[in-house]
Amino acid sequence: MQFYIETVGCQMNVLDSELVYSGLRRSGLEPATHREDADVILFNTCSIRQHAEDKIYSALGRLKHWKTHKPFGVLGVIGCMAQKDQKMIFQRAPHVDLVLGPGQLELLPETIHQLLDEKLQLRYENQEAVTGKKLLVSLKRLEHRHTEVVESFRLFNPVRNPESRTNRFQAMVRIMFGCNQFCTYCIVPSVRGPEQSRPPQEILDEIRTLVRQGVIEITLIGQTVNSYRYKSNGKTTRLSDLLYEASEIEGLGRLCFVTNYPRGMNDELLQAVRDLPKVSKHLHIPAQSGSDSVLRRMRRNYTAAEYRELIDRIGSTIPDASITCDLIVGFCGETEEEFGATVELVRYGRFKNSFIFKYSERPGTKSAELFSDDIPESVKKTRNNILLEIQDNISLEQNRRFIGRTVEILVEGVSKRFETGGVQLSGRTLCDRIVVFDAPDDRLIGQFLKQNIVEAAPFTLFAR
Ligand code: SAH
Ligand code: SF4
Ligand code: F3S
Repeated sequence: MQFYIETVGCQMNVLDSELVYSGLRRSGLEPATHREDADVILFNTCSIRQHAEDKIYSALGRLKHWKTHKPFGVLGVIGCMAQKDQKMIFQRAPHVDLVLGPGQLELLPETIHQLLDEKLQLRYENQEAVTGKKLLVSLKRLEHRHTEVVESFRLFNPVRNPESRTNRFQAMVRIMFGCNQFCTYCIVPSVRGPEQSRPPQEILDEIRTLVRQGVIEITLIGQTVNSYRYKSNGKTTRLSDLLYEASEIEGLGRLCFVTNYPRGMNDELLQAVRDLPKVSKHLHIPAQSGSDSVLRRMRRNYTAAEYRELIDRIGSTIPDASITCDLIVGFCGETEEEFGATVELVRYGRFKNSFIFKYSERPGTKSAELFSDDIPESVKKTRNNILLEIQDNISLEQNRRFIGRTVEILVEGVSKRFETGGVQLSGRTLCDRIVVFDAPDDRLIGQFLKQNIVEAAPFTLFAR
């Protein structure tokens, strides 16, 4: 029996898919090279914006023909949209067999085998492949007691299997699950559940295992990774403590972490980033908006001035740091002045780059309940383009400052193969800048190299 996983969404999903892959392999299933050949197709889904969901529903629709060819196959929807839409998925896509949320991944292999067995039984009995559908999701937040909700989001940390990763040298380690912020526009807290930090010993052991498997660069992940906090025996471990301890691990070359909530960027964390040579000097700190009134409507719990003060503090503590940002344009009621404040923040922040999103109303969130999604799509688009253009110019200016400098990079992979036989390799600096250069072959992948920068584009440095 063969399986295939299709993944969209953020790093949480990428890591979950890796873990699901390992779990399914251990349960005896084989990975399929082509989706159509698989007996089990899974969609690991994202609900962050409407567009992400629309794409999944239409992809599911296109799999109707697969189901006619393989009536005894299993089509499953896992991830955030599974938790959000639940049985509605069966209504919109009746050929789906399984809907399983991010808090139930541990149960995925046995559930798939149950479904396959039931279908096999029907096949022996010469019956139609109509089996019971399976819906496994966590409790809805705010509708149940907190402890029950926490329990219903079961953590999933299986043994790491190098075969499941596309890159041998890089791996992610989850240090916390869920989110407690409840920004008004955001679906994540309801689909990923309450914040839960993993015990530090477990995290450090996992990093050691990965390093033994040949991993050089580890990225610690969490929706608000800098809120990491684990209390045990009267001692509290925070992200900065984890960075110090993980840095000691021999063989580990580089340590990154994403994504940060502005309010938790305390001095201990900034000093750890500055002082630990293995820790990446790149900080992803979404601002979302530069306008106080919008930030208030978004319930972000900081002002634009506080965010600017943070940028200044980073600049004076870690002079070679790079900052990246997420911004939302066209949030409910966003006026030209409010948008102008975001433009100003982007100019002030001089971010390495920014991820800019058009506001997308998510049913079930506070902003959907309280405000009207009243900014026309065309205005959202214009604001998006304005910010993109400003950011592109800043990114280019920032990158140009590297021309003539020598930087150390970790070579990550091949970005191009030339017909003549050579390759273009790509790597990253400690401040997360992409550097590409030509090489005769791919043997340098996984190594640290010094490179001279000769040219710059907004997202790429060129080296010789
Ligand atoms: N936990 C992360 C964000 C995860 S979602 C953080 O707070 O930094 C990634 C980004 O998607 C967010 O930073 C935000 O910019 C964007 N986003 C979230 N909800 C959105 C929505 N409803 N519409 C548009 N963009 C959204
Ligand atoms: Fe969403 Fe805000 Fe949590 Fe980020 S911090 S995941 S934007 S609720
Ligand atoms: Fe999407 Fe879920 Fe991540 S909604 S952004 S995949 S946590």
